[in-house]
Formats: sequence, C-alpha cells, structure tokens
Amino acid sequence: MIIAIDGPAAAGKGTIAERLAAHYRLPYLDTGLLYRAIGKVMAEQGLDPDDAVGAGRVAAALDLTHLADPQLRGREAGELASRVAVHKPVRDALLKFQRDFAAQPEGAVLDGRDIGTTICPQADVKIFVTASPEVRARRRTDELNAKGRAVDYERILVEIRERDARDSGRTAAPLRKAADAHLLDTSDKAIETAFRAAVDIVERARAERA
Ligand code: CDP
Repeated sequence: MIIAIDGPAAAGKGTIAERLAAHYRLPYLDTGLLYRAIGKVMAEQGLDPDDAVGAGRVAAALDLTHLADPQLRGREAGELASRVAVHKPVRDALLKFQRDFAAQPEGAVLDGRDIGTTICPQADVKIFVTASPEVRARRRTDELNAKGRAVDYERILVEIRERDARDSGRTAAPLRKAADAHLLDTSDKAIETAFRAAVDIVERARAERA
C-alpha cells in the first residue's frame, strides 16, 4: 500500500505520516529532507540557491540516503529547501529516488508537496493535510520556543505565508491537492485526533478498494 501525504508547512503532515508508517509497518520517506539536504549543500559550497543549473547539479550528485543530520530539520534549511525546490532540474533529479522508494514490495508512506500529484499519482491513499496559516504559525512558534529558540509569532506567520506562496506559486510541481486526495484539516484537531482521522481515511479507502 502506498500512502501519499501532502500539505503546507507545519500542518502536521510529518507527524501523521510517521505515525501512519509505524501503524501500518511501512517504510517512511520525508521528502522535504531531500530538498533540505540540497539547500544545505549549496549553502556550504557558497552556491546561490536560486541558480537552477547549479542546484540541479548538486541534486544529481547528492547521496540521497544521508538524511539523518539534525541540522536539516532547522528553520534555515527549510527556507533554503523551498528556494531550491522551485527548480525543475532539482525535482527531476529527485524523482527516481522517490519513485523507487515508493515501489518497495510492501509499499511506503511518503510525505511532501507533490507526492499525490507527481511522484505517486497512483498511490492507494492520498491525504492532503492542512490547517489555517495562523494555527500553523502558532504550532511552529511553540515548537521552536520549546527548543529554546526565542521566535516571534508574527515573524513566523509572515514566513509561513511566504513559503505557502512560493510552494503553491511555482510552475514545477506546485503544492496542490490532488483531485482524489482526502482533505484533512487539522486546525482544530490535536495530533492524536488528527492521526485517528488519517487512519479512518486509510481504512475507508482500503474498504472501498476491497
Ligand atoms: O515541515 P516543513 O513543511 O516546514 O518542511 P518540509 O516538508 O521539509 O519542506 C521544506 C520545503 O521543501 C517546502 O517548503 C517545499 O518547498 C520543498 N518540498 C517540495 O517542494 N516538495 C516536496 N515533496 C517536499 C518538500
């Protein structure tokens, strides 16, 4: 079974995807880490993240299995990721790795922005996880504050809106709900409730296919 989870920043898709993978004992790929890794390498090499050709070259040469670096999960890496993610050569270079991951015998859970639309259009279940920008900014602010990083809610809200605009406005595989994706709005849901709603979606989809 292939489960595709997409949605904007801080909507809860990572946590839901990870928990679904554990629940169904499926391998899990957080595809955001791929873009984050490319952004980080470009910064380290002093390359311009807005250079499509350079970014494509880095993407093609990158070892995509080394994604454990905790720095990749940081705010700066996320910002860089969304800049390198607009380039078609980058997305093309990452396509095969993601499709191969999804093609494992037991299936897989992948989360990102374009899994249901581009990477796995034939996924068995697609879930588009979203929440209002204000709720997402509040969650991200609390998460960063809990890690000891003093950040301002208003600033994070601006960043979230900018990232949404960049991810949805690009021409290469923009953030978009696939027509056959199930919408899961987590604005007024705690993570446990959101996870249960996701399991319900998967179970209903499985029952329909059976
Ligand atoms: O958790 P958060 O949404 O902040 O970040 P992420 O999922 O790791 O994604 C970081 C950035 O990578 C996004 O803003 C997208 O621009 C890009 N991305 C993408 O374009 N396609 C994907 N499948 C995954 C991430």
